[in-house]
Amino acid sequence: MTTDASHPPVRWAVLGTGAIARAFAEDLRLLPDAALVAVGSRDLERGKAFLDAFGGRGKVHQRVEDLARDDDVDVVYVATPHSRHKADCIACLEGGRAVLCEKPFAVDADEARAIAEAARRAGKFCMEAMWMRFHPLITTVRDLVQSGAIGRVRLLTADFGYPTSYDPQSRFFNPALGGGALLDRGVYPLSLAQLLLGSPSDVVGRAAIGTSGVDELETALLTYPTGAQAVLTSSLRSRLRNEAQIIGTEGSIRIAEPFFAPHHVSWTRHSEPVGPAPAAKSGPGGWKSRLRRSPLVRRVVNDVARPLLRTLKRDTKTFAEHVPGGGYQFEAAEVMRRLRAGDLESPIMTLDDTIAVLETVDALRKSWRTSG
Ligand SMILES: NC(=O)c1ccc[n+]([C@@H]2O[C@H](COP(=O)([O-])OP(=O)(O)OC[C@H]3O[C@@H](n4cnc5c(N)ncnc54)[C@H](OP(=O)(O)O)[C@@H]3O)[C@@H](O)[C@H]2O)c1
Repeated sequence: MTTDASHPPVRWAVLGTGAIARAFAEDLRLLPDAALVAVGSRDLERGKAFLDAFGGRGKVHQRVEDLARDDDVDVVYVATPHSRHKADCIACLEGGRAVLCEKPFAVDADEARAIAEAARRAGKFCMEAMWMRFHPLITTVRDLVQSGAIGRVRLLTADFGYPTSYDPQSRFFNPALGGGALLDRGVYPLSLAQLLLGSPSDVVGRAAIGTSGVDELETALLTYPTGAQAVLTSSLRSRLRNEAQIIGTEGSIRIAEPFFAPHHVSWTRHSEPVGPAPAAKSGPGGWKSRLRRSPLVRRVVNDVARPLLRTLKRDTKTFAEHVPGGGYQFEAAEVMRRLRAGDLESPIMTLDDTIAVLETVDALRKSWRTSG
């Protein structure tokens, strides 16, 4: 972890005291140059308990406007439900705080653009907390793809789904809180595809809408100007494989479950082009060439021997990584590096990339509406 304890600590506030706020605050303790100095909670006692639990010393603010004006805070980690992100982020930015906002950054691209504009107006750092992009093995995958290690990418598949107990009031199933699989989980496959393939030129999606009115299962088929495709699925109800595969012209990469915070990645480079053996020349010849022309022998060679040889000759390399904590420390460390450098964005998760992902989300929702 490249953080720098020789500097004064970066002073963090956490807005919201829910599940992810706790996981993030726990990982913040792994960074010696980070300090938890404030919490935003609608409930004073809950806020105090949160500070106590995570070794923070400082204030509890019950109103986001007060947190935003707290000059003892350098950066606010926004961990409220998605439907609150726009208002919470803009309040913090206008109050003079840098912002790291949980995924999905907003519920649609218009909201995301409004936050980005507020950040630019205020001259404050702002980033989506798409922690996957800062995971060391995802960095390895990005570097492999960008260096041409699998040739040109032709297909990306990724899915993210775990059964979630049904509660129509919860942020997962409640439309008013931005519920649905696409916003909660689908943004991970989409952000991976955006990282590796850029923006799609065509977007088609289908969704199964549940009784509370949110998408419980959705699949996207994205097409890129290069001709590459991505097939991405997310679910609130089913356990999916939670893997990703990137298939290129010269190799492939498999990111094992959970692909958004992987422990294991394998890269395979094909050692020869895939295809049938060249046909044997016709005409008379000895028994060897007659044998090579035999349909049965050719089928055995093409369907069994050559694939087997390719498998044996395959150049496969695996990368394994067991990171301490939950893996949220990498995004926090990036925020601190950027703040110290005086940067307003991270090149790894730019605001434009975040907006582009939400534009795809919008296009998918439009596609659901126009499907028969
Ligand atoms: N990066 C990840 O791995 C990850 C994982 C899970 C969730 N997330 C994201 O993080 C955000 C929060 O998710 P979560 O699972 O932590 O949710 P959660 O457990 O419901 O917590 C959200 C917190 O926000 C505060 N809050 C403020 N206004 C609220 C409102 N109107 N309704 C409910 N809570 C409100 C609450 O804290 P107070 O009561 O103290 O005010 C609440 O505890 C979501 O956008 C989600 O997508 C990210």
